[in-house]
Amino acid sequence: MVADLDTRVSVGSVELAHPVMTASGTSGHGAELASYFDLSSIGAVVVKSLSVMPWPGNPAPRLHPIEGGMINAVGLQGPGIERWFAESLPGLVASRAAVVVSIWGRTVEEFRDAAIAVAAGRSSRSGGGSIVAVEVNLSCPNLEGRRGIFAHDADVSAEVVRVCEVAGVPVWAKLSPNTDRLVEVAGAVSAAGAEAVTLINTVVGLVLDPESGRPVLGNGGGGVSGRVIHPMAVRAVSDVHSAMPDLPIVGVGGVVDAVSAADLLRAGARAVQVGTATFADPRASHRVAQDLDRWAIGRGIGRLADISPSPGR
Ligand SMILES: Cc1cc2nc3c(=O)[nH]c(=O)nc-3n(C[C@H](O)[C@H](O)[C@H](O)COP(=O)(O)O)c2cc1C
Repeated sequence: MVADLDTRVSVGSVELAHPVMTASGTSGHGAELASYFDLSSIGAVVVKSLSVMPWPGNPAPRLHPIEGGMINAVGLQGPGIERWFAESLPGLVASRAAVVVSIWGRTVEEFRDAAIAVAAGRSSRSGGGSIVAVEVNLSCPNLEGRRGIFAHDADVSAEVVRVCEVAGVPVWAKLSPNTDRLVEVAGAVSAAGAEAVTLINTVVGLVLDPESGRPVLGNGGGGVSGRVIHPMAVRAVSDVHSAMPDLPIVGVGGVVDAVSAADLLRAGARAVQVGTATFADPRASHRVAQDLDRWAIGRGIGRLADISPSPGR
């Protein structure tokens, strides 16, 4: 942190020490990055999406580099929420990180069970107070009645947000860019009680092996991330901010430095997350945070919160 710069921002009722966080799925389940930098120096660590049950994820290969980013189909591998509280939260608490728990489910009921498990863990485990928010990952398939991706359906997204309130911490709804209904879905989750929306998850894609002509990933298609999706993220943030200037937004997609972070903040986000850049440099979120501090000071900005447009503007 640089002296005389106020780095604090708020996302709804959540006060963060800095607007730069990690992005879910790109910094492990717990304090894996603590050996690279002080996790309390960034706004929050957003852990990989957890379901109520352990989940094996997709067959390998799961990641493939592309020009300007990567494509992945990790498939939400995780230990389940109860084991996460026992095995991963203690390290995060020791690192003094603010923690955002990302949760997912295959049905509305499974989202509810995940939120109940978060509430139970928070009250029964020491350090549960480090959890500042739940980020509900709506970019996964809804297995009930073949209804597609949760985040592509405003009504079912709102239903998920409502049942996740039982977690007892502010709910952020993480939305998918793979729909022309993004603004409608953002409005629905906000009306259902989400304090913020996180924009965006990965962009669907398919990469074929040049020799065999077959998909490079074990799952077939996957999600594209990194620098290459940055303009889509800026557009998503801008569209939602223009439609709902008071709705707090967390921007994510292709943040690699101060300028790409500032793009999302200027488009309407209150905070940003760093994902794919962490694979090339485990210190990426810390580096972006410091770079943003210098960028702001160089422009005579005294409060990082002032980079974002004021609510209602
Ligand atoms: C390998 C990998 C795993 C991911 N896992 C998750 C996940 O578990 N939950 C989630 O909400 N997003 C997940 N994401 C999406 C990121 O959090 C982020 O929204 C997306 O990658 C765009 O940001 P970026 O361009 O900075 O990577 C994952 C992304 C990658 C690359």
